[in-house]
Order: sequence, then C-alpha cells, then structure tokens
Amino acid sequence: MTENAVPLVTLNNGITIPQLGFGVFKVDPDKTGRVVRDALDVGYRHIDTAKIYQNEEGVGHALKESGIPREEIFLTTKLWNDDQTDAEAAFEKSLARLGTDYVDLYLIHWPTPERDTYLDAWRSMEKILASGRAKAIGVSNFTVDHLERLIAETEIVPAVNQVELHVDFQQAELRAFAAEKGIAIEAWGPLGQGKINESPELSAIAEAHGKSVPQTIIRWHLDVGNIVIPKSNNKDRMAQNFDVFDFELSASEIATIATLDRGEDGRNGSSPLEVN
Ligand SMILES: NC(=O)c1ccc[n+]([C@@H]2O[C@H](COP(=O)([O-])OP(=O)(O)OC[C@H]3O[C@@H](n4cnc5c(N)ncnc54)[C@H](OP(=O)(O)O)[C@@H]3O)[C@@H](O)[C@H]2O)c1
Repeated sequence: MTENAVPLVTLNNGITIPQLGFGVFKVDPDKTGRVVRDALDVGYRHIDTAKIYQNEEGVGHALKESGIPREEIFLTTKLWNDDQTDAEAAFEKSLARLGTDYVDLYLIHWPTPERDTYLDAWRSMEKILASGRAKAIGVSNFTVDHLERLIAETEIVPAVNQVELHVDFQQAELRAFAAEKGIAIEAWGPLGQGKINESPELSAIAEAHGKSVPQTIIRWHLDVGNIVIPKSNNKDRMAQNFDVFDFELSASEIATIATLDRGEDGRNGSSPLEVN
C-alpha cells in the first residue's frame, strides 16, 4: 500500500489534505522521531501534532531525516490555550521547533470559552494565513455556537474543525452544520482513544469484509467523509490502520453503525465547554 491510495479532501480555500493522517498525541517526545519515521515508512503523509504534545521537535526531525520533500507532507500543529493572546509568537515558536518555514494547517486547539480570546487568536491566524506561513487555518473542539460566533465576527470561515468523533460519539448535528458551512470535519480519538467499540454489530461488519474492527472503524470515518488521524506507537498497528483502501462499507452497514452512537454518553475526552 502506498500513500497514493489515500484520497485527498479539498478544503474551503482550495488546499488539499490527505483524508487519512497520523496523530501523535501522547507519543513520548523521546520516541516521536522513531514513531513518525515508522509512520512515514508505512505511507502516511499527513502528521497531526500540537504545541501541548511537546513533540513538535521530534516530528520535525523525522520529517527532515526521511528525506521526503516537505511539500509531500501535510503538517498540522495547534495553538495552545495560554497562547491565544499572542498567536503570532506561539506560531513562530512552533515553526522553529518543527524546523520548517510553514505548516499546512494551523488550528486553535480549544475554544476555552471562559478566556473569551478565540476571536483575537483567529484574527492573528488570519494574518498568518495571509503571510503564507500556514496554508490553511482552522479550529478544534469548537461547538456549533462557537463556530457561528466566529463566522459572524471574523473574515475567514475555518477550513477544518477537529473534534472528538468516533462510533460511540458521532456528532451528527455538528457534522451537518460543518457541511453546510464548508468546514471539513477531522476526527480525533477516531478509535475511541483505544476504547475500541467491540459491539457484535461492528464485529460482524468487520468479519464480513475480512478486516479488523479498527480497520472497519477507520473505513467508516472515510466513508462518512471525515478526515481521520489515528495514532499508534506500534508499526504493525500503523500499517493495519493504513490498510483500509481495498474495501468500502455499504449504506446499510453505515446505517447499522449509526445505531451505535451514544451521544454525549459516548464522549471519552473533555467537553469543549469545560476546558479553559
Ligand atoms: N484536537 C484535540 O483536542 C485532540 C485531542 C486528542 C487527540 N487529537 C489528535 O487525534 C489523534 C488521534 O487521537 P488519539 O491518539 O487520542 O486516539 P485514537 O487514535 O483513537 O486511539 C489511539 C489508541 O488506540 C490504540 N490503537 C491504535 N491503533 C490500534 C489498532 N489497530 N488496534 C488496537 N489498538 C490501536 C493506540 O495504542 P498503541 O499506540 O499502543 O498502538 C492508542 O492507545 C491524536 O494522536 C492527536 O493527533 C486531537
């Protein structure tokens, strides 16, 4: 399997992003170089990091050492909450740690409603976009209310909203709103952060395709239109998660998976209203 198998999603400013990428949340900074080199070796060409993961340097080293031309990699990082009042300085520090002069996507990591600084942060990010140092800008963990306010009060509609989204927490309302506004949805925790849905329904669908449950879940994300960024420290699992381009789910299988949604009860991570 090669990276060429990964479909590209065109964002609302014309930039394309590989629909399947690789996330590095909780990857030990000392191991990130090895982990990202393994992911690149498997074929991933889209890497998702963040300042708060403290592993931007490792990502940067792996990209350099791989010898893969920078323009063949889609690189995302994120603005941490404390930095919303000085996004420009935080962004330059991220670039330095990553050892690159641009990122493909820069995201506001959390809306942090109590701080009420995300509009200011966004206006700085609009300038970063205009400078060409980020090819696209977006948000993460934004609810419909946060998106509506951002769209009403600033110039640029986010290219992406990266949110917790998996079989147990399918975020139908947010996905519909984003589709209407031309905002691509990126699924974090796409495998339930390791709490993989072991339901008989999903196991039966996986078995019917001769695939594992994690592969079936990643295929589901692709088939419903999500950009998806599973993480693994293990090269065999990285390869397994990448080996999802030789099957597709039927409409009735997707309808069955829709019944597994547990709404808010299915959420594993923090609520965007609580992180500040
Ligand atoms: N914007 C945000 O606020 C936010 C929040 C969380 C995450 N993210 C991003 O989203 C990415 C993915 O989310 P995540 O890392 O939290 O969770 P995830 O990708 O849903 O799950 C990762 C967990 O699943 C295990 N795993 C991976 N593939 C597997 C397989 N084939 N079979 C069995 N277990 C498997 C991994 O263990 P091993 O490593 O041992 O394989 C790890 O424990 C992150 O890395 C990060 O880039 C963003």
